[in-house]
Amino acid sequence: MTDPLTTFSPGEGRRPPRAAFRSDAPRLILDGDWRFRLSPSTAEAPTGIERPDFDDSGWDELPVPAHWQLHGHGAPIYTNIAYPFPLDPPYVPDDNPTGDYRRAFDLPEEWGDLGAVLRFDGVDSCFTAWLNGQELGWSTGSRLPTEFDVTGIARPGRNVLAVRVHQWSPGSYLEDQDMWWLSGIFRSVTLLARALGALDDYFVHADFDHTTGRGTLRVDTSAPARLTVEELGLRDVPAQGPYDLAAVEPWTAETPRLYAGELRAGGETTPLRIGFRSVAVEDGPLKVNGRPVLLRGVNRHEFHPDHGRVLDEETMREDIVLMKRHNINAVRTSHYPPDSRFLELCDELGLWVMLECDLETHGFSLTGDWRGNPSDDPRWREAYLDRMQRTVERDKNHPSVVMWSLGNEAGDGCNLQAMAEWAKRRDPDRPLHYEHDWDSRYTDVYSRMYTSHEELDAIGRRAEEPLADPVADARRCGMPAVVVEYAHAMGNGPGGLAEYQRLFEKYERCMGGFVWEWIDHGLRQDGHFAYGGDFGEELHDGNFVCDGLVFPDRTPSPGLAEYKKVVEPVRITMAPDGIEIANLHDFRGLSHLVLTWCVEHEGEETASGDLPLPAIPAGSPPALLPYPTADTTGPLTVSARLAKDEPWAPAGHEVAWAQRIPEPIPARRPTRGTRPDPGLFDTRTGRLTRLGDLPVTGPRLDLWRAPIDNDRLGHDPVADTWRRIGLDRLHHRLLGMDTEDDTLVVRTRVAPAATDLGMYATYRWQDTGEGLRLTAEIEPDGDWQDISLPRLGLRMSLPAWIDHVTWYGLGPGEAYPDSRLAARLGRYSSTVDALQTPYVFPQENGSRADVHWAELTGPQGGLRLTGAPTCHLTARRWTSEDLDTARHTDELRPADAVHVNIDLAQHGLGSAACGPRVLPNHRLTARSAAFAVTLSETADG
Ligand code: GAL
Repeated sequence: MTDPLTTFSPGEGRRPPRAAFRSDAPRLILDGDWRFRLSPSTAEAPTGIERPDFDDSGWDELPVPAHWQLHGHGAPIYTNIAYPFPLDPPYVPDDNPTGDYRRAFDLPEEWGDLGAVLRFDGVDSCFTAWLNGQELGWSTGSRLPTEFDVTGIARPGRNVLAVRVHQWSPGSYLEDQDMWWLSGIFRSVTLLARALGALDDYFVHADFDHTTGRGTLRVDTSAPARLTVEELGLRDVPAQGPYDLAAVEPWTAETPRLYAGELRAGGETTPLRIGFRSVAVEDGPLKVNGRPVLLRGVNRHEFHPDHGRVLDEETMREDIVLMKRHNINAVRTSHYPPDSRFLELCDELGLWVMLECDLETHGFSLTGDWRGNPSDDPRWREAYLDRMQRTVERDKNHPSVVMWSLGNEAGDGCNLQAMAEWAKRRDPDRPLHYEHDWDSRYTDVYSRMYTSHEELDAIGRRAEEPLADPVADARRCGMPAVVVEYAHAMGNGPGGLAEYQRLFEKYERCMGGFVWEWIDHGLRQDGHFAYGGDFGEELHDGNFVCDGLVFPDRTPSPGLAEYKKVVEPVRITMAPDGIEIANLHDFRGLSHLVLTWCVEHEGEETASGDLPLPAIPAGSPPALLPYPTADTTGPLTVSARLAKDEPWAPAGHEVAWAQRIPEPIPARRPTRGTRPDPGLFDTRTGRLTRLGDLPVTGPRLDLWRAPIDNDRLGHDPVADTWRRIGLDRLHHRLLGMDTEDDTLVVRTRVAPAATDLGMYATYRWQDTGEGLRLTAEIEPDGDWQDISLPRLGLRMSLPAWIDHVTWYGLGPGEAYPDSRLAARLGRYSSTVDALQTPYVFPQENGSRADVHWAELTGPQGGLRLTGAPTCHLTARRWTSEDLDTARHTDELRPADAVHVNIDLAQHGLGSAACGPRVLPNHRLTARSAAFAVTLSETADG
């Protein structure tokens, strides 16, 4: 056979690709502990490993499936775009780690007469397999299945399987996805018995005609087969049909109706799960079953913090359940076909899937002009086609898959076009996507990524930058538009989700999009999650690999809570004349939901009840309900909840909600009473040092926040400007301290070194009887032009024994100017520690917005602060500077104080780490400002 490391060919000796399915034929799962040895290069790898009697007793053991780098052999590498080896296709460096695997297994006698197929579901990146000393072949295509016919080679009794895996191969040039480079047999290995005449492959065509409600069923099979679908009255009929079926229930992501059936051939039975649906790009939008669908999607990589891309079924289910609970209805399998079981779960639980081929050559863009890109080099044609064929053939029977994607960021070229043509011929019923097909020449939808709101608006109006060729332009203008990646969810963010959603909903052309991305790929290390550079890589891209809506351990981040709120399938609006209920589902009515309401006063529920939910079919106008109570003195919350258990959430799960916030702002009465608090001030600095018995430091003007990823990354990062000016190192100068009537006036100038820019900060202190009222007046000095500020607020510190915070304001989670819809008004309690959001890379977090009052307490009393009317609040055991310096969460150590920020404003979040900056209305600029807060000691202090 050819040397797999020096050829453009994708493999040799393999069976043709086919659907992934499970029949009742015997099978032997070969997962478990294998013998394993890693050599630093292929030249240093042992010879003769294929011989059944080879002595592997000195080798290690390694589980299959697994990545060897996560089991003490070699180390993970993270690069986004750059290849970690020279661009010299198809060659790879000599120092190519090579993993040898061996395992013996016994086959029972009854396998004697049967044929056999050996199946590898995923091996990264290239492997050769031998059974009982005989070479079977080799393959590339890490996230794609490979099968070898081992009939006559596998035999009853003892068998020995040997596999040699190379970390790098020509295939690696086609697998430059933004993720960890991790190697090995990382999906299952199975031996399948095949009877003569048994089914090798099938293709279910189950169409739904929305005009008549009828279904058509046809199953193409590789051998004559009989079909049974009891529910449809089909009993042991020829599989081909076609069968015209009256009144089938269609499959949708909202109502994933599956019909159970089976195929029989060659004495073998194959279970089927059939979903009737039709997908079309028709008169503008993408339609399923005749109706436009709006994708509220996420990009999902397969990731586990301990196991890399090795996922068990429970984790796959957990992803889907979490998505469904957060109102997500679509997944793009970025950037490769996932484990097939994930798609079975999408069929069952209901998600629209854009299924992407295992292809990316992004690193060739670093040549400046995509020089040498395999996508346009005919020598790679077979490899490209091979990948698309293995993708489509494997997953063609899933109703959840509504679109194929050729891959990601592989430039343009003849090989992509060839893939598209093949896919169109093989499966004309599913539209094709590929984002780098800028002109949409061989695809069916117009795709963009990280589009600004402004550009999306133009696309919605079909007024995007036109193509030079008017015919091509008219064709593309007629296509639906998808934003296949947007709202880069790196660190604290994304901001601006609601503004995107408004545009998706406004324009018929917009079919929605997929947030980048689902999960942070942080690998668990002692005490923290690791990212690029933590394994001593030669080249790496730092924490850019942590940009998900869930943390590496799948804890939802505040960004996910915000997304859930923004994409609610039911929109409840507190209108002047009643409660407006809009059904934003694409298919489903609202009979699966109930409406509840409650009124609270400072967190205490004072009235509640149910509201009748009218039938509002999808697509019909909103309904208006009368307000259930005349009480407008406390917030009224209306929730839409599941009436019954769904497979992804229990009855009572909240799907959507809205709040009517009372005007005027509720009275801010102390809950536990206060006592007079004489303040003690340092005459050298003008700062408060004691409030009654409570030692404090500050408050004083502060502008810094530990830059979030969106502040410090991307094009011309705003944090560079902040640091250049010195907003992270302010000096304070006391100008004067006077008493005017009953007010202590402290005048200061606050400024960074080396600049004439500064701010005058005047602090006016008054004893109101309920506490010390501080009014801070800020006046910029110098030419700040349109320089933005990280924050505008006060910082102070309290004794380290403060460990609890109770507040009346927005919560329970953090909220920032352009990501605050998920927070609702209420009374909340938390420990100081639990107020922190553990972004993998430490950065500003944890701010509670619109706080009317808060009590920061501990065993010896504490501080009460009252906004006028509100302020934003953070409390942490470290300073913003500590947060800024730390590179991992466990570098943040409790200091000898609790540091409190009381803010008037924060700069927005945006998603500039990869995408647009903070929208103009959420930018914080230097300006004159005044705000007030009353400080007192809590009663039991
Ligand atoms: C996109 C790419 C993704 C990811 C993202 C940034 O360009 O398709 O794979 O790299 O940028 O996180």
